[in-house]
Amino acid sequence: MTQTIAVLPGDGIGPEIIAEALKVLDVLKNFGLDIEIQEALIGGAAIDATGVPLPPDTLALVKQASAVLLGAVGGVKWEPLDISIRPEKGLLGLRSELELFANLRPASVFPELVNASTLKADVVSGLDILIVRELTGGIYFGKPRGIRTLDNGEREGFNTLVYRESEIERIAHVAFTSAQKRQKRLCSVDKANVLEATEFWREVVTRVGKNYPDVQLTHMYVDNAAMQLVRYPKQFDVIVTTNMFGDILSDLASMLTGSIGMLPSASLDANHKGMYEPIHGSAPDIAGQNIANPLATILSVAMLLKYSLQRADLADKVDNAVHQVLRDGIRTKDIQEAGLKTVSTSEMGDAVVAALQKQF
Ligand code: NAD
Ligand code: IPM
Ligand code: MN
Repeated sequence: MTQTIAVLPGDGIGPEIIAEALKVLDVLKNFGLDIEIQEALIGGAAIDATGVPLPPDTLALVKQASAVLLGAVGGVKWEPLDISIRPEKGLLGLRSELELFANLRPASVFPELVNASTLKADVVSGLDILIVRELTGGIYFGKPRGIRTLDNGEREGFNTLVYRESEIERIAHVAFTSAQKRQKRLCSVDKANVLEATEFWREVVTRVGKNYPDVQLTHMYVDNAAMQLVRYPKQFDVIVTTNMFGDILSDLASMLTGSIGMLPSASLDANHKGMYEPIHGSAPDIAGQNIANPLATILSVAMLLKYSLQRADLADKVDNAVHQVLRDGIRTKDIQEAGLKTVSTSEMGDAVVAALQKQF
């Protein structure tokens, strides 16, 4: 049966990197993968065309699709808008409407990119971390929220950090089962020394851990975790953490791998329906220049193949193709190295396509 992949390019470099990911999907289609691509609007592009960041047509499409591939949203143009209707709200709406509570952000270092990291080669060489970020709860979605005027006339902004027990349990299960398939070490990151919501997080994760005696569970405060990720990142196997801490730590972890342009992600619901996107944003500073790194998006396609289409064989081929172009010394600007060829976004996509075709 033909499976529908909803593709949402979005804003800034979104359309540029998605174009390269579509080239990859095209190759797979030509070699027999039975998929149909349907594009739709999200973010600023959707606001410009329809007035809202997540149009009903887009929501209807993603709900019936087998998987969603997203570029990025946001940009300076839409910053003056009220926060409730900004491009980012479209993305958050997708995550919550589809109940994509489990965000997997793998940060592994390709041997060829060891020198692209700003950290010393021996600190990052061989690094392979999985950040499991809770994605539909916490301070991102907690209520009450807003900006109000107090009785004395002073204004204040407020958000609510709240986690229900069931929300912590389900992300903990994902993290423990992920760890079981890896080195069986899980570090839960919180701020339990200050925030009750994360004191509770630690309690629930610890209890869930009793079901996984084969996984070694540790806990770490988020400030220390940020420092440890830069000091000695190889101490980590799987990290599980809240929505906001996961957002911040995954950007940090991306630089261990050489560039934020390298980090893919999968956002999954309870049935492994998923949305796949690079962890970076719309990069307004380089949009329209054909210099963005499309590899995070192409690696997100590999995750889509693995998790939503159950085609680990094809995911491996895409991963191998990315490895091959890096081995061939092909680099976009963000991972450039003296003596190696710096290529454009579209040339990088073409190189991956060529390496992929050779595997059939
Ligand atoms: P960003 O991730 O867009 O960019 C941060 C820096 O990394 C920039 O210097 C950018 O040029 C660089 N960069 C990012 N992706 C790159 C790539 N593929 N290749 C090369 N360089 C790359 O973060 P920001 O500048 O803080 O945010 C810009 C906009 O993106 C904002 O509107 C923000 O809300 C939005 N955003 C969206 C998402 C998403 O759609 N998932 C994620 C993060 C930020
Ligand atoms: C990400 C982004 C989003 C987030 C924004 C754009 C809503 O930074 O996917 O990491 O904070 O989750
Ligand atoms: Mn982010």
